Amino acid sequence: MKQDVVIFGATGKVGKILVDQILDKDADKRRITGVVSSQNWLYDPNGLGYKLALDFSGGVVDGYSYGGDHSMLLDEIRKLQKVPTSFVDVTASTDMIPTHLRVVGDSFYDGMVTANKNPLVKDIETFEKLTANNGKYQFQCSVMAGAGAIEKVDEAYELGDEVKEISGCFSGTLAYLCDQMRKGKKFSEALFDARSPERGYTEPDERDDLWGFDVGRKLLILARRAGKKVNLEDVNISPFLPNMAFGKEESLEKFRGKLQTYDVYFEERIKLAESEGKTIQYIAKMSTPSVDDLLEKGVSEIPIPIPMSLEVGLKKIPKSHLLGGLEGTLNGFEIITKERYPKGSSLVITASGAGLKVTAGNVRVGLNNLMRYDRRT
Ligand SMILES: NC(=O)c1ccc[n+]([C@@H]2O[C@H](COP(=O)([O-])OP(=O)(O)OC[C@H]3O[C@@H](n4cnc5c(N)ncnc54)[C@H](OP(=O)(O)O)[C@@H]3O)[C@@H](O)[C@H]2O)c1
Repeated sequence: MKQDVVIFGATGKVGKILVDQILDKDADKRRITGVVSSQNWLYDPNGLGYKLALDFSGGVVDGYSYGGDHSMLLDEIRKLQKVPTSFVDVTASTDMIPTHLRVVGDSFYDGMVTANKNPLVKDIETFEKLTANNGKYQFQCSVMAGAGAIEKVDEAYELGDEVKEISGCFSGTLAYLCDQMRKGKKFSEALFDARSPERGYTEPDERDDLWGFDVGRKLLILARRAGKKVNLEDVNISPFLPNMAFGKEESLEKFRGKLQTYDVYFEERIKLAESEGKTIQYIAKMSTPSVDDLLEKGVSEIPIPIPMSLEVGLKKIPKSHLLGGLEGTLNGFEIITKERYPKGSSLVITASGAGLKVTAGNVRVGLNNLMRYDRRT
């Protein structure tokens, strides 16, 4: 029996590629029964034809207006579906939590695969509800586009192997900027290049990358999977640029107009790092700092036990370190655990952390995982 799939965000950049990939490569195991955009949808419990699914995702046909109310869609699907339905969220919407909770909480639905991080970074109770039944909620794509970071943290946690440290470079855009500046480009030139239509590495408003919040949200998801009861406020995020670069309610044009001011800022940081045999990288890190770390930061009274820290920021890092030598837009992830991956034998993953084809491919891995948990077999 084929897997029935409904895709939220089918008209988006990842969504279009996903529709393409399912139609091209998965015809033997799954069929698309529903496609949803922010306002319109199409649904047929017998499967949407190849052309209809493609035309909707390509914006050629509009589908039916549903006014953005997913509960009405879920009611309709529950009424009409012939076999349990699997859902995909490739939106960037902050309003998907009720939809996710309903899908994971109702045995009538097979489960949810999400590349959308938003539902995972709200309060810890929502996170725990969503991820309580791992098999039904596939969210591996939310970090490094599904390259295995979440799975490695999960493995350690499930084996009772204490996670001592997680560090990573989780923004392809910021990794690219560091790589280009290391190779001699000025910051403003590297950013201009990164947001050129040929590259398209940045968000439409590049401040969304430069703030570092997206990296902070990925670290939060990993920390929660390591069993830490933490929220976004617990992540100390230093933006890629100094705080003063982000003027209050400043237009994008004005922001872009002063980017060259920061060329020297980065040149100096790179020079300083090089004088210590290091380089710069935008790093997310969950760790328990050592006494030396705290003393270096000027902490006079060392707390016992030393609390865990979650930090995101531009750091100096040895050139020989894997995260220091990342080329282009590559992402990196390192995990140190008490038993399986102790310091000196840490586990490291480098991979393309974004990209439409990679993300869509890993969403399909999530759909395959849902099939493994399928209650119909
Ligand atoms: N791009 C990557 O390489 C990458 C990698 C990993 C993860 N991701 C994640 O994947 C997600 C999608 O990224 P993208 O670049 O494809 O985004 P996008 O191009 O902005 O597409 C968003 C899609 O979501 C739809 N949408 C918005 N609100 C909706 C709602 N309430 N209900 C149903 N559909 C809704 C939009 O419909 P309309 O057409 O009506 O606006 C559009 O189809 C994001 O969460 C992103 O963080 C992306």
